[in-house]
Amino acid sequence: MSAQALFKPFQLGSLELPTRVVMAPMTRSFSPGGVPNSKVIEYYRRRAAAGVGLIITEGTTVDHKASNGYPNVPHFYGEAALAGWKKVVDAVHAEGGKIVPQLWHVGSVRRIGTEPDASVPGYGPMEKLKDGQVVVHGMTHQDIQEVIAAFAQAAKDAQSIGMDGVEIHGAHGYLVDQFFWEGSNQRTDEYGGSLAKRSRFAIELIQAVRAAVGPGFPIIVRFSQWKQQDYSARLVQTPEALGEFLQPLADAGVDIFHCSTRRFWEPEFDGSPLNLAGWTRKLTGKPTITVGSVGLDGEFLQFMVNTDKIAQPASLEKLLERLNNDEFDLVAVGRALLVDPDWAQKVREGREQDILPFSREALTTLV
Ligand SMILES: Cc1cc2nc3c(=O)[nH]c(=O)nc-3n(C[C@H](O)[C@H](O)[C@H](O)COP(=O)(O)O)c2cc1C
Repeated sequence: MSAQALFKPFQLGSLELPTRVVMAPMTRSFSPGGVPNSKVIEYYRRRAAAGVGLIITEGTTVDHKASNGYPNVPHFYGEAALAGWKKVVDAVHAEGGKIVPQLWHVGSVRRIGTEPDASVPGYGPMEKLKDGQVVVHGMTHQDIQEVIAAFAQAAKDAQSIGMDGVEIHGAHGYLVDQFFWEGSNQRTDEYGGSLAKRSRFAIELIQAVRAAVGPGFPIIVRFSQWKQQDYSARLVQTPEALGEFLQPLADAGVDIFHCSTRRFWEPEFDGSPLNLAGWTRKLTGKPTITVGSVGLDGEFLQFMVNTDKIAQPASLEKLLERLNNDEFDLVAVGRALLVDPDWAQKVREGREQDILPFSREALTTLV
């Protein structure tokens, strides 16, 4: 089957993508001091030059003392970091690509001892104590408003340095998802309770981002059923519940939903082959991005623990079938693009035999 469907342009309002290939957001931890440097610029430039239509950057932290959870993660605030990102934007644009930052707050996942201020604990929907010490600070209404303001400011800054939109990280058990998930949110105020109430934090956040950037600036929201704390967790069990969950987010200002799954071919609900991106597109009418083991024969969490497992290149046939059927609009590729900057070009030219396999080893360098 021809891979041509991946290389058709996509347009949504003023956002024009040269191809349907999206680089999935991947934390690389190569930005000491929170500043993306020349290696980071070159890393993203190479993917745009080889045919990635939209780059979603690695998670980049908003301006809040507890937003970061890992070493050498780039900031999306402060003069030096924003100047670094501006160079990334210019380099990607010069190659004809588009780029959005993934705006991130890790919430309760943060550990005391993490940069930038080692004394700051995690911040989450619920307080957590260990041996009498606060390891997660339960967020007050003021904290909530501060974090929302930090996301809005980051989005505004993204717009002013020429980014083509923003992605809000609402997936994988980080802060926004910690509010969505009943496993991490048992609040008894207006931010807790039913899923509709647990969505209030995200809704206010999206509304604030929309207000900051105005109409027409693309807002992507990434969400997932699975959590890093529990791979089998689910926010919703039925298509009806998914529709009820997503509609208020769409109404708040989302343009594109990025539906994070680990294996794109898995049906989301019994009785239909549609995956999460397929159902989301059908229920909301919004364009969607699919993701999960595209072009590889093993899913990504297997590789996050120490292992010498190797994921080999895999056929794109099932993916192309779904794309040709308009099940979703865009296809995010993670590890295949992490290890092989020329992945998209090789696929386009039918040079599958040249595509590189992925192993954990690839995480140690930025090529
Ligand atoms: C090294 C690495 C870092 C990741 N970091 C992020 C991240 O910062 N934000 C995010 O939403 N997902 C992150 N992910 C998940 C990917 O975006 C993607 O959903 C996942 O790798 C599945 O796609 P793949 O099978 O094509 O690799 C990361 C994945 C990897 C492998």
